[in-house]
Order: sequence, then C-alpha cells, then structure tokens
Amino acid sequence: MDSETLKNDEFDLSLPFNAELLISLLNNSIFQRNVIFKITIGSTNVFLKKLAQEGSPEGTMVIADEQSAGLGRMGREWFSKKGKNLLFSVLLRPELPPNKIFFLTMIFALAGIDAVQQMTGLNAMIKWPNDLYIGGKKLGGILTEFAVKKGVVQHVVLGMGLNVNWNPSTEKNLMYPTSSIFSETHEKVSREKLLSKMLKLLEQYYQKGMADVHSAERFFEKWTEKSAILGKAVVIETGNERVEGEAAGIDQEGVLTLITANGHERKFVCGDVSVKMNFSEH
Ligand code: BTN
Repeated sequence: MDSETLKNDEFDLSLPFNAELLISLLNNSIFQRNVIFKITIGSTNVFLKKLAQEGSPEGTMVIADEQSAGLGRMGREWFSKKGKNLLFSVLLRPELPPNKIFFLTMIFALAGIDAVQQMTGLNAMIKWPNDLYIGGKKLGGILTEFAVKKGVVQHVVLGMGLNVNWNPSTEKNLMYPTSSIFSETHEKVSREKLLSKMLKLLEQYYQKGMADVHSAERFFEKWTEKSAILGKAVVIETGNERVEGEAAGIDQEGVLTLITANGHERKFVCGDVSVKMNFSEH
C-alpha cells in the first residue's frame, strides 16, 4: 500500500493505533522489521533499551497508545493523552563515535518537522536541543539515549512524543505552553500515515548522512535553518543557573554558544531555553 494514495478519510481516527496498517505503509523500511505495539506501557524508551541490550536488530520500534511512566529530558515526566498522539522509540546501531550521536537527534527532529509539513502544511521549528515547536508552543519532544562500551556506541534509542489529535487546551497543569497538530489545524490526521512518513524520511536521512559527510553537513545546515532560537535573545536554565544572552551558534555536537550581555561566550550542552519577549513600553 502506498501512503501517498491514502486520504485521511480512509482511516478511522477513533481506533487504537493500528500497527498492521503502519507495517503495510512502511513497505521495505528497516523500521518495518520488528514493530512492537502496546496499548499501555511504562515507557517506550525504557522497554526498547532492554530489547537493545538483549540484541534486538537495528530498526526495532516500540510504539504505544499510552505510557504510565513516560520520560522527558532532564528526568521529567512526559504526559500524553491515551490514543491521541504518537509515542514511540526506534533502535539504531550506528557506527558513530559518542560525540557524534547528536546528529541522530538532529535528523530525527528534521524527519518529524518534514513529515508534519508534508501532511499538514504546518511549519514547525526546532528548539534546542530537541523540542519540536510551533507558534511558541511545544508540539513534541525527543529523548535520545545511548549505550557506550569501551568508547564504542552499542546502540541508540530515539524516542519521540508528538502531539497529534489531542486538544491540550483542555488539560490543566501542563508544564509548558503546549500545542498539537489538531490545535493548529482543527483537523485530525492518521497517526499511522504520519508515522510511516516520518520513519521513511528518518531512514532516508540516516542512510544519506551515514554514507557521506557532505550530506551530514547539509542536514546540519537544514537543522540550523529550522532553529527557533538562533540569533535571538534567550534565557537558558540548566538547573544550576539561569543565563541570559544571544543564542549565537550551535555546533554539530549540539553545543550551544551564548553571548552574554557583557560579551562573554558561554557554552551549554543541555538546559531549557526560552526566547525572551520584548515588551514595548506605554
Ligand atoms: C522532552 O521533551 O523532554 C522529551 C520527551 C520525549 C517523550 C518520548 S514519548 C516516547 C518516548 N518514551 C519515553 O518515555 N519518552 C519518549
């Protein structure tokens, strides 16, 4: 079955995620080899890390309609509504040194925003280090985890939570301004079709980027163009400190350079960034 030939009204959007349909849409993708679907799971990342340690092949994917202990970055919880969004993790076994793993987070984010753009026309952006943003609100997040033995990467688990058919405006106690495809377009989309599109793009970007360093550089440039923070006045909170400055650059290893008000250069490997709002005086 070709995902391009299917329209949204050919999918029943009220049903649980249909893993068989996803597999049929994926054709010969590496992500079609070993798909594990659970209605409810603790965390797809935790589950997949265990499978990775047990030797599961590259391309193995775990997807769920609900997580009881979904993980976000910096030890946070990832909250999602059952059956509405995408919650999944994929396993890669790249031949990359540990300091190059950020490349995978980059192409995963690009595959996410490109798939959303192709299916809905929405222009999502990337907020360092791994958030998908739209109109100043969080559309999704990525959690990248990897294992290293004697300096060699054994496996990488890329997990994504993407808000699709959910209406977050009805939720209380969300940690940050949150959006979804539905909130932006007022239309529901097939999660299977969106995910198959995203995984095909991810595979394409992965193969190209791993095969040739110039392609990898082009993905980095594209990722930079989609940055929601570069060149802007931002505040970064790391848990230990809060620093204001201009987001001057992000390198290929994901290190953010900030120029502070007194002209000092500061480098950050993780943290929460928000773009500073300029309020005009009356
Ligand atoms: C973040 O923005 O903090 C990252 C959120 C990542 C959430 C996804 S949902 C699927 C996968 N399984 C998890 O437990 N977390 C990631």
